[in-house]
Amino acid sequence: MGFQGTGYAICIPVPLLWCILWRMKTEGAWYNRVVERSWLDPIEPAHRIDCRHPWPARVDSRLSGGVNCYEPDRELVAELGDNDALLRCMVRDNTSWNEQVAKWSLSEGYRQFMDLGSGYPANDDVYERAEGRLSIFVVYADIDRSVWAHLRTSRDTHLGKYAHVHDDIAEADSILALPEVQETLDFTKPVVLILSSVLQFLSDDEARAAVAAYTAAVAPGSALVLSHPADGHPAVQALAEAYHDSGIPFQPRSHDEVAAFFDGWELCGPSGLCSTPEWRVPGAAKPKSRPRRGRYGVDPGMTAYAGVAIKPGSMRA
Ligand SMILES: C[S@@+](CC[C@H](N)C(=O)[O-])C[C@H]1O[C@@H](n2cnc3c(N)ncnc32)[C@H](O)[C@@H]1O
Repeated sequence: MGFQGTGYAICIPVPLLWCILWRMKTEGAWYNRVVERSWLDPIEPAHRIDCRHPWPARVDSRLSGGVNCYEPDRELVAELGDNDALLRCMVRDNTSWNEQVAKWSLSEGYRQFMDLGSGYPANDDVYERAEGRLSIFVVYADIDRSVWAHLRTSRDTHLGKYAHVHDDIAEADSILALPEVQETLDFTKPVVLILSSVLQFLSDDEARAAVAAYTAAVAPGSALVLSHPADGHPAVQALAEAYHDSGIPFQPRSHDEVAAFFDGWELCGPSGLCSTPEWRVPGAAKPKSRPRRGRYGVDPGMTAYAGVAIKPGSMRA
């Protein structure tokens, strides 16, 4: 082939290829399939960690002073302006409440836990501390790939057993049917269902259906541990708006709406469903009434509800 032949060989296929790629780009789906599932990058899109958009676990990490966050998460928190101190308080109160409930449930003899929307592993996790002396079984489920990756590398056990599920907790039936879930938990015995600060990311229908499915799956004597951002608080509203602006649904709920998740359960603790820092273990005295000075020197007001309940029936942990 002479010079002219080489020219044809380049001039015809190159623009043709360019036209095909342009068409694929304008048609969207195909372009995404080729570029995102590129053979140059063997990692499936579903397995990649999305650092371009904020994600709830990372926003929480930012609010609680952790380091598991990227620029979009920091930008979302920056958008919160003056509300950020109250929201930091809300996140920290929730963490302390989780610790308190975890210690209580272990002392009550519970050994099986299903942490739905678990978030990143805590630095000083109660289960991990307990694991040195007790045989405990925990299923962690979270929709965030980076959370899942952290949990998998930080949770290994010699006594009990852990399973790490990367899935949408709204898909309750498929999560419950997973072999690793069935192999980790014995559903004929009580399980502690933990839904801590996660149902706000689900619509009313999804949240109701998910709670009903997990409730139906667990034995009498199981515990439901649930916290939820409260509606009507300006700081929580600012957080909801910041999430909405980033395309993430976030629905604060009223006391009655959160209480409805406990239908069929018996609330325990002296305050029942109350503000997170007011929750006390069953048998403890009711806390003194407000105003309370929070960690940031202000009364945070009603930013979130928390409650713990037992599934009626004879069996206990
Ligand atoms: C606000 S953080 C709370 C984390 C932890 N439960 C706690 O109380 O500290 C919410 C967590 O729920 C996860 N999440 C949000 N929507 C979810 C869904 N549909 N399925 C599973 N996890 C979800 C997020 O990835 C994040 O880790």
